[in-house]
Amino acid sequence: MTAPVARYDYAAMQDTDDHGWLKQGSTSSTEVAKTYDDWADTYDVTLADWDYRAPKQAADLLAARMPRASTILDAGCGTGLTGAALRSAGFTGPIDGLDISAASLSRAEIRGVYRNLATANLQTLPLDITSGIYDALICIGVLTYVPDSKGVLCEFARLVRAGGTVLLSQRNDLYRERNFGAEVQALADAGVFTDVAISEPQAYLPDNPDFGPDIKVIYITLTVA
Ligand SMILES: C[S@@+](CC[C@H](N)C(=O)[O-])C[C@H]1O[C@@H](n2cnc3c(N)ncnc32)[C@H](O)[C@@H]1O
Repeated sequence: MTAPVARYDYAAMQDTDDHGWLKQGSTSSTEVAKTYDDWADTYDVTLADWDYRAPKQAADLLAARMPRASTILDAGCGTGLTGAALRSAGFTGPIDGLDISAASLSRAEIRGVYRNLATANLQTLPLDITSGIYDALICIGVLTYVPDSKGVLCEFARLVRAGGTVLLSQRNDLYRERNFGAEVQALADAGVFTDVAISEPQAYLPDNPDFGPDIKVIYITLTVA
């Protein structure tokens, strides 16, 4: 069995304060890429230790509204937990993944669930991707690191065909701090999205001592106009 220190080596890699790097988050792309590169080999085990449920919960939400043959972009796919959860939920169509961490993408590739994997920075927009080629886009556990909510939401809407779905997660504390609900509603009012569904806050990383019951996850499901 792996010693606990190895499971939590993301903390050892960072000059953390008492709250921990993960809880604090970072919007420095360089720092985020390095952290996730260094963490890639142990990320899956650590997240399982923390009872990370978001990939499965999100995949189930998407499966409730999109055909199984949908073409999907997993934005911030990391090591591929969400791609694997989409396959487990029954999705059979192409799934592409992008992430800022090349080492995480290497782990994702080993799963064999993605069609294409590419490095990309969600803070450097627009992405080099043709408009409207996806039926759905899923972005789970990523928006902590992307402070321009409006910019990234508009870019996600560009990549998905009319009538398709954008499904995001956001931490409940950042949802409040960044007025995320108001940003989403403003885009709906502006005609970017036709339909907005916001979940109740749910357990996020219940067995992570820094997150525990305090920091929850909210799922935002949007229909592209
Ligand atoms: C908590 S992990 C979530 C990974 C995966 N979605 C999952 O649920 O396991 C956050 C991911 O976001 C990626 N990320 C953070 N900032 C990013 C950015 N600006 N552009 C692309 N990916 C980013 C990280 O590299 C990391 O893989």
